[in-house]
Amino acid sequence: MLKLGVIGTGAISHHFIEAAHASGEYKLVAVYSRKLETAATFASRYQDIQLFDQLEDFFQSSFDVVYIASPNSLHFAQAQAALSAGKHVILEKPAVTQPQEWLDLKQTAEKKHCFIFEAARNYHEEAFTTIKNFLADKQVLGADFNYAKYSSKMPDLLDGQTPNVFSDRFAGGALMDLGIYPLYAAIRLFGKAQGATYQAQQLDNSIDLNGDGILFYPEFQVHIKAGKNITSNLPCEIYTADGTLTLSTIEHVRSAIFTNHKGNQVQLPIQQAPHTMTEEVAAFAQMIQQPDQTLYQNCLDDAGSVHELLYTMRQTAGIRFEEEK
Ligand SMILES: NC(=O)c1ccc[n+]([C@@H]2O[C@H](COP(=O)([O-])OP(=O)(O)OC[C@H]3O[C@@H](n4cnc5c(N)ncnc54)[C@H](OP(=O)(O)O)[C@@H]3O)[C@@H](O)[C@H]2O)c1
Repeated sequence: MLKLGVIGTGAISHHFIEAAHASGEYKLVAVYSRKLETAATFASRYQDIQLFDQLEDFFQSSFDVVYIASPNSLHFAQAQAALSAGKHVILEKPAVTQPQEWLDLKQTAEKKHCFIFEAARNYHEEAFTTIKNFLADKQVLGADFNYAKYSSKMPDLLDGQTPNVFSDRFAGGALMDLGIYPLYAAIRLFGKAQGATYQAQQLDNSIDLNGDGILFYPEFQVHIKAGKNITSNLPCEIYTADGTLTLSTIEHVRSAIFTNHKGNQVQLPIQQAPHTMTEEVAAFAQMIQQPDQTLYQNCLDDAGSVHELLYTMRQTAGIRFEEEK
């Protein structure tokens, strides 16, 4: 059983703990918040939780793995501090804002004999193995992956406020928040892209509200749409020489149907997990407790590729975070 500490007292942390507890592999023991009252309110639905409002004390307490769900630009420093204290780290997506930061985290993790994971939940879905196997004997000609959902923070933005997810200080925006899921899916299915581009509708602070990107592969392109001021109800598609594979969504695949050029359809056997985070929490626990170096190395390398692409895409669109201005 892994003793779990949590940074970030938003709804997503409860969601993660729910999946972690359901897996039977984790037990929440410690919560950090900037305010003890917030930590106490958050922890009130769990039992025997230590509460902290000082990060140094939190990292010295006796848990094995920390789940970090703070605003994006805080991830790197918090993860470095956790790894330095000998804790395994599950870092919410996007784990970092610069590709070099991911390399630094990898290095610290290795030095401290700890694991570092980016919580990109779709990457760990068995559905992608099923899809990849199905595509193995097919010639891929392109794909169209989107994740655009009207944000619950849009009213605040329209009211003149700057919620963290639309802030350059906290490294927000549609690409960082939602576009990362299509990128993970593309890299999981097709490997590392050779290059990328992105054009977006942007706020005055340069943060993107929605945008369209292209990932370049030697033989085809993957089109990406990300959005937080729009909702896309389009499915996702992978085009092959034999027909088209239509996926319900890319952030949590519920169905995959192949239609050949004659119109005949085959439904792929996609098993739906009971919770969007079920598969990632199980994968992290397994990698920590029964290390599979190949799988772990793939996770590290693929995360590195995702962060290189995110950076390139931001540069082409002119998205600059506060630390870069
Ligand atoms: N995997 C998923 O499906 C999923 C879904 C949603 C979000 N996420 C990711 O989870 C992370 C958190 O997202 P969120 O929407 O919960 O973010 P958020 O509400 O902006 O912040 C999360 C927590 O960070 C702390 N925080 C907020 N503002 C802060 C500030 N100015 N300085 C220091 N700490 C601050 C707060 O905890 P305290 O007040 O207790 O300190 C807050 O509860 C992001 O990286 C996001 O991308 C993932």
